Amino acid sequence: MDKILVRGGKPLVGSVHVRGAKNAALPLMAGALLAEAPVVLHNVPCLHDVFSMDKLLTGMGMRIEFTGRTMTMEAEDGIVPEAPYDLVRTMRASFFVLGPLLGRFGKAKVSLPGGCAIGTRPVDIHLKGLEALGASIRIEDGYVVAEGRLKGASHTLDFPSVGATENIMMAAVRAEGLTRIGNAAREPEIEDLARMLNAMGAQISGAGTDLITVVGVEALGGTEHVVIPDRIEAGTFLLAGVATHGDVTVVNANAEHLPVFLEKLREAGAEVEVQGGRIRAAARNGIQAVDFVTLPYPGFATDLQAQMMAMLTRAKGVSKIKETVFENRFMQAAELVRMGADIDLEGNTAIVRGVEQLSGAPVMASDLRASASLVIAGLMADRGETAIRRVYHIDRGYERIEERLVGLGADIERVRE
Ligand code: UD1
Repeated sequence: MDKILVRGGKPLVGSVHVRGAKNAALPLMAGALLAEAPVVLHNVPCLHDVFSMDKLLTGMGMRIEFTGRTMTMEAEDGIVPEAPYDLVRTMRASFFVLGPLLGRFGKAKVSLPGGCAIGTRPVDIHLKGLEALGASIRIEDGYVVAEGRLKGASHTLDFPSVGATENIMMAAVRAEGLTRIGNAAREPEIEDLARMLNAMGAQISGAGTDLITVVGVEALGGTEHVVIPDRIEAGTFLLAGVATHGDVTVVNANAEHLPVFLEKLREAGAEVEVQGGRIRAAARNGIQAVDFVTLPYPGFATDLQAQMMAMLTRAKGVSKIKETVFENRFMQAAELVRMGADIDLEGNTAIVRGVEQLSGAPVMASDLRASASLVIAGLMADRGETAIRRVYHIDRGYERIEERLVGLGADIERVRE
């Protein structure tokens, strides 16, 4: 198994290209199940999660070609609308195939995703929405078996779940009549999915707001679509720059997708400049403590919470972080403490008291964003070496992160154990 070794203390300086968004690419790939002609996606990131979705869809009978960053997908009528446990358990986003399969084929059998490190993550909101569209759903041997011709309906989500909004929207494009999804999630990745589905012939309006309206259509065709930039990756590199008192520019980013985050970076004392698709952040005069609360979009993204916490371990003062999206998302805190951080957890709140320095230590990655936060902490450590184990977590969501950090002057390498 690989591990990542980081020797910190060097400010990161330079620019780095942001890849296409993982959380957009995965539902877009699932959405291609609805198309009765080829779908071509550009700017697809080469990530473990994308390969997992590729494997799942290929297993169902989709033809996929993935070269460079372009993926061509063809889902003909012979698709087997089943997603087996072995593939779904490795990646929760596999559950996104449920809506499009049900919408197009009128039936689907998808394994329940099961537990995951950052909380129980149930799928009740997805299922209630599909039931509201008239699907009959039963749980059989760990699988969700859904059937029925869908009919448009008005339905309000209990919580603006990203995945549930996407699943219900993908089912509704083939439902008969009008669907209204209230309390919908507003993430940019949902807007991106709606854009692609509309280009395929769907009639979706309001994506990006909390009320999405869908008029069902008889069939969807193919299209070409460019995946939006990954806002979480952009944020992670910017944080790595600021945390090391460096000066990092992310290229091919979209600052509009990071509203609260960039404000918080400024509040922490960083200089932040936005110019077209470039965002630059630099910290020359140290970092100040800031408080923040994770919330559904446009609030502070839970997917940037762990990396921000790493940066704040050395801020001047005391920061208070409240996590409201996931129930168990402070897994990185214990590892950061092993590197010298001063963090207390009280329920869903973390109190981070800034310390003078961090030191390298062997640490364990527990999930994707926690592992990114450990990389940032390793880059901040003034002495010693940080060895991060279980780096497969980081490969799920960042394309060769160590090589791109080396490009910014970091002393980081991947070694095989
Ligand atoms: C997506 C993102 C993930 C991000 C998360 C929140 C993808 C592939 N993943 O995950 O990176 O961290 O949004 O921004 O896009 N919930 C329920 N019942 C449900 C569904 C969700 O209780 O049926 C709860 C979850 O347990 C969690 C919260 O709602 O506490 C948010 O989850 P959700 O927005 O659904 O996240 P995902 O779509 O899984």
